[in-house]
Amino acid sequence: MINIGVLVSGRGTNLQAIIEAIEEGKIEGKIKIVISDNLDAYALKRAEQHNIETQYINHKEFKNREDYDKKIVETLKNKEVELVVLAGYMRILSSYFIKAYKNKIINIHPALLPSFPGLRAQKQAVEYGVKISGCTVHFVDEGVDSGPIILQSAVEVSEDDTEESLAERILKEEHQIYAQAIQLFSQGRLIIKGRKVFIKK
Ligand code: GRF
Repeated sequence: MINIGVLVSGRGTNLQAIIEAIEEGKIEGKIKIVISDNLDAYALKRAEQHNIETQYINHKEFKNREDYDKKIVETLKNKEVELVVLAGYMRILSSYFIKAYKNKIINIHPALLPSFPGLRAQKQAVEYGVKISGCTVHFVDEGVDSGPIILQSAVEVSEDDTEESLAERILKEEHQIYAQAIQLFSQGRLIIKGRKVFIKK
């Protein structure tokens, strides 16, 4: 059973999927806190509906990214968080944060990395004309969407897909593999060697 902290900025459908997976016993863990940089994030309401503690931390109250991240790390440590889950969190983490939770921060990205890192990955995929895209759960390192890959799921791209239609299909896969990856972490089955993540049987 691990203590989880979730960082969000927006609507929080991945958070919702994680909450449900925990409630269904598919993840052996507990969400100790949900932190947002956005007061209006619907994700905060989702957490509150499940009696999960939330905190809004306003970056404008800090002089730089590192000071902001120090506050977040302090909040997570106070809650004895062991795994940090980024679920639609729109800020880049400072190296302070990454070092404080080395190999204990994971993210989900709506493309098959290393293709289409960064913002609006589904739009990038549609415009590029790929036939297959998908989503990736990965450990977070100091680059953008560049850390070791834990799980991926492929989604076919059809000729009439738009950014929105593709995003919707990818999202369904995100909800599956994010919960699976968290459970694997919780079970201590993820072994990082260099760029690769090995999953213990
Ligand atoms: C997802 O598409 C995720 O892959 C990306 O941000 C989006 C968050 O959606 N990192 P939600 O807030 O979980 O609904």
